[in-house]
Amino acid sequence: MREKIKNLEEFRALQEKYVQARDHEKRKVLVCCGTGCAAGGNLAVYEELKKQMAEHGAAYELSLNDSCGGDSTGIKKSGCHGFCEMGPLVRIEPEGWLYTKVHAEDVKEIVEKTILGGEFIERLGYKQNGQLYKRQEDIPFYKKQTRRVLEHCGHIDAESIEEYFSIGGYAALVKALFEMSGEEVIQEISDSGLRGRGGAGFPTGKKWAQVAAHTEEPVKYIVCNGDEGDPGAFMDRSCMEGDPHKILEGMIIAGVATGSTEGYIYVRAEYPLAVSRLQIAIAQAEEYGLIGDDILGSGKSFHMHINKGAGAFVCGEGSAMTASIEGNRGMPRTKPPRSVDKGLFGKPTCLNNVETFANVPDIIKKGAAWFRSVGTEGSSGTKAFALTGNVVNTGLIEVPMGTTLREVVYDIGGGIKNGKKFKAVQIGGPSGGCLTEEHLDLPMDFAWTRTAAWSTSPSSS
Ligand SMILES: Cc1cc2nc3c(=O)[nH]c(=O)nc-3n(C[C@H](O)[C@H](O)[C@H](O)COP(=O)(O)O)c2cc1C
Ligand code: FES
Repeated sequence: MREKIKNLEEFRALQEKYVQARDHEKRKVLVCCGTGCAAGGNLAVYEELKKQMAEHGAAYELSLNDSCGGDSTGIKKSGCHGFCEMGPLVRIEPEGWLYTKVHAEDVKEIVEKTILGGEFIERLGYKQNGQLYKRQEDIPFYKKQTRRVLEHCGHIDAESIEEYFSIGGYAALVKALFEMSGEEVIQEISDSGLRGRGGAGFPTGKKWAQVAAHTEEPVKYIVCNGDEGDPGAFMDRSCMEGDPHKILEGMIIAGVATGSTEGYIYVRAEYPLAVSRLQIAIAQAEEYGLIGDDILGSGKSFHMHINKGAGAFVCGEGSAMTASIEGNRGMPRTKPPRSVDKGLFGKPTCLNNVETFANVPDIIKKGAAWFRSVGTEGSSGTKAFALTGNVVNTGLIEVPMGTTLREVVYDIGGGIKNGKKFKAVQIGGPSGGCLTEEHLDLPMDFAWTRTAAWSTSPSSS
């Protein structure tokens, strides 16, 4: 039973409790239950793991709340690791081993050899060009990535707020509530250079400042764009499935900074797991009083709602989305007025993409300079991409802004299948273009999408 946290001291004590509970876990088995691996049979793997552990009389726990102080094995359902093609995946900690293409029939061996015996099962390990990679982080697909937004996706139980506490979750919100003014939060976001990950790259701090400037309005809104209509894209879905509290935390911080008290997350209905994980996360945050009135006794309030989209691509556009949330036909309108002045229900609205919000907690916690430590001058931080098609390794990746297409296709993607020659990459969904060999060494950042990508788009002439 979760109880409302009444003040800062209670929050700090609770966080410390779960940091320690996590440190005490001797061994952990993370069964990927993202959409891809769940479809591939990992829910059965999870059930079989519990059964086999019980049959072997081995102690296990399913949540940090059951922690028995170090002798038992944590068995957890995680979100997507990004390497769905090799799924169903199972990660073993503390070694960081990754098992690929796991099935329920493999579980007895995993329990006997790995969990109880500490032995790696070679046939379940990942191999590339004949080389076996035991540790997930050593696999070429992961080695060249810089996972910040996706850092905990696949590494924590995505349905547990306590697990999120244990990796420092909600500490950024606490900092924004008790140690910073709204202006300071917005300044930090501006200084970080964070630009919207939804496509246009609008400076996030500037958008927040424009909403905050409407001090005359008692009602303002935060809207999270989780529509993700581009074919083949699943960055936002993975984030919502794998680390939902990070998005909620980013949204609440935006609310506190801009003086907005209502938040809406618009998720396409084709993402049922993302919807359910967000619903669970919101309910848990409400139980602890991290969402609702007078958050942790700060006097600040924020309420959260989920809206399911009906799969119309156009509803990903901001003004179509707010129309859809209002119950109207999802159609873009001409601007001005912009959403920051007249958005949802005619009120000032701060509308950002899922990945944009997911970047916020770390910026507040670690600072703008940390965020700027990767990326390029005009495009700081990282970007998640869905890599699909004729490359050796496909999946969800996250790289510093400014990484070249060559590094993505060859170093992370492992090159073209069967050693074939590179022809072209289609980027950016329906409104993007096709890039050919001459673009392979251009750094991918917001300037790149404007020049290389848009110049090749049939609609840009
Ligand atoms: C047709 C169309 C579809 C769009 N689809 C999405 C989408 O699926 N997700 C998204 O975040 N932004 C989408 N956008 C961009 C949004 O209008 C908006 O600029 C963005 O969500 C703002 O968030 P950001 O500043 O964090 O990027 C779309 C825009 C257009 C014109
Ligand atoms: S769903 Fe398991 S790796 Fe993506």
